[in-house]
Amino acid sequence: MQFIAAKTQKLLNDVSAASVLKLIEGEMLLVEDELERQASSNFQVIDYLGRYLLETKGKRVRPALLVLSSRAVGANSGPGMIRLAAVMEMLHTATLVHDDIIDNANVRRNRASLNAKFGNQAAVLMGDWLYMSAFETSLEHRSLEILDVLTRLTRMMTEGELMQLTLIGNTEITENQYFDVLRRKTAYLFSGCCEIGALLAGSSIEQISALRDYGMDLGVAFQLADDSFDFTADERTIGKAAGSDILEGKMTLPLIKLIAADPSARGMLEKVMDNGVYTNGTRNEIKHRLKDHSILEETREVAREYGERARKSLEVLPETEYRSALEAIPDFVIRRSK
Ligand code: IPE
Ligand code: IPE
Ligand code: MG
Ligand code: MG
Repeated sequence: MQFIAAKTQKLLNDVSAASVLKLIEGEMLLVEDELERQASSNFQVIDYLGRYLLETKGKRVRPALLVLSSRAVGANSGPGMIRLAAVMEMLHTATLVHDDIIDNANVRRNRASLNAKFGNQAAVLMGDWLYMSAFETSLEHRSLEILDVLTRLTRMMTEGELMQLTLIGNTEITENQYFDVLRRKTAYLFSGCCEIGALLAGSSIEQISALRDYGMDLGVAFQLADDSFDFTADERTIGKAAGSDILEGKMTLPLIKLIAADPSARGMLEKVMDNGVYTNGTRNEIKHRLKDHSILEETREVAREYGERARKSLEVLPETEYRSALEAIPDFVIRRSK
């Protein structure tokens, strides 16, 4: 019964995900063209690395959010919208390129990460290049309001990664500290996509603020799901290493909750983080303990609450198919498998 219910849910999810994508299919194809243009350069090395990054496609969640948000408050599609959607994906890619160096990650989108393939030196510089190209492109709009959002969120992302670094291996981290890092490293970018979508449409302060809040809560739900996958998914599905957060010394919400429910887990987690490898079946032991205390269900419940809050923010928007699509996204984000 459980199995059938899960399968049916997945099917329903796939069907509505497909209809959301259909709604903005035209725009997303143009975003791909724009990304292709942006990644090409007369400078041979950049061109080569840019192509390597483009060859494997991510989920394109952030540009899709910008387009849907903008359409939801009445903007027509146009070159500005497409360009800024591409800018958000370029910023995201830049953070991934740098994040993989910081995390020492060898796999991304099911193949060698840029750092693993070309070395840290080239990857740092390519990340910088992507950041600056994204800003250069955004400047074509001559909008200080948009630039303001972009610079703030980029600073926030860097602060998030830095804060995370200072908390590496620290099992005393509080939920507040965890959420602070998470908002900065992930949710501000989501929020910025939605806010810029609204700014492009020239919408009211109330609508801009609703979309900004929607993106923020959605971003939190998204990262909570990502932190849960680290325990439940396999590498092939998520396209990056699974079970690696603890090895990287990252105390995610499930682990914080585990220590609160079962203080005897602290020593074991500290040992795994110190060693940087799982020994003597500790990976399974951690999974068992998470299960015993229903920690992953609890984490999913927190993600659901953020998803619900995100949806509620949309109530001030006109009832259109774009708003419905935005309303459906929190569920996809929580139930997604990659
Ligand atoms: C990965 O983001 C980084 C996180 C915020 C967890 P995505 O899961 O959106 O990565 P791609 O773009 O689909 O590969
Ligand atoms: C994601 O951090 C947020 C970024 C700014 C890249 P993670 O380190 O958790 O992301 P993954 O798991 O490497 O995609
Ligand atoms: Mg990482
Ligand atoms: Mg992660």
